[in-house]
Amino acid sequence: MIIARSVSELRKALNAKEGNIGFVPTMGALHIGHRTLIDAARKENETVVVSIFVNPTQFLPGEDLSKYPRKEEADFKICELSGVDVLFYPAVAGMYGEDEVRMCAPDSRGFILEGASRPGHFDGVLTVVMKLFNMVQPTRAYFGKKDAQQLALITQMVENFFMKVEIVPMETVREKDGLALSSRNVYLNGPQRIEALKLSTALKEGTKMVMQGNLNSIEIQSAMTEILRPLDVEYVAIVNRRFQSIAQVVIGDTIVLVAARVGTTRLIDNVWM
Ligand code: PAJ
Repeated sequence: MIIARSVSELRKALNAKEGNIGFVPTMGALHIGHRTLIDAARKENETVVVSIFVNPTQFLPGEDLSKYPRKEEADFKICELSGVDVLFYPAVAGMYGEDEVRMCAPDSRGFILEGASRPGHFDGVLTVVMKLFNMVQPTRAYFGKKDAQQLALITQMVENFFMKVEIVPMETVREKDGLALSSRNVYLNGPQRIEALKLSTALKEGTKMVMQGNLNSIEIQSAMTEILRPLDVEYVAIVNRRFQSIAQVVIGDTIVLVAARVGTTRLIDNVWM
């Protein structure tokens, strides 16, 4: 595995490769969720590139940028063992200059839900993903449905800017008890880890109601909110694939999303139905 710490090192490494490039952008602290994306990229492409970059522009002032988990050595090992060809591990100065052109998330989808709780977050995500795509020039890029709104916005950016990359959505990987894997789970202590299960339990209840024929969004949201109590809930939302609120669940075109704080840790989860 080649570790490239600058764009020129990355380009040099990629120039020597042939065939399709599968790309998995990450912020490190890799877990099985990331692993699943890397494994899919490995299966479907000749060359696999993973980036590890804790992107400062997607953190709002007061968020966990400085304490975001960093696990360089373990991450390098995981990439190596997963058959990654090139690990791109740039420094902030190699990614950003002063007063740059930036991407801007669309008004409708970009500033609701995650975008409302974290205004500007998606501008930072789209900006860094645009930079990374231009650096790596992947054939396919792999993203988790766990970050559903991020996935939708990146897909829209690729369409709006006629970019050539294929976006591959991947299912959310969970612990046995249902908790969605997240780099932020390391912030949870024992009791909080149990509290955090309320997110996936609420989503299971929502799914059960739909299976039993109740498609009414308000009723599903209120049953889920009840389960999430006493967590600090930011939203329980039911939207279509275009992230428009819907009064009735439509099977095949619905995403149910939750965001809540467990202690000071902000967690998100969702199901696609
Ligand atoms: P990060 O949180 O490290 O996630 C990297 C990728 O892993 C994302 O596509 C995310 O959706 C996916 N992922 C995370 N948890 C997952 C899980 N439990 N199951 C399946 N996939 C999962 O998302 C980011 O980094 C950044 O915003 C990034 C896109 C790299 C831009 O900085």
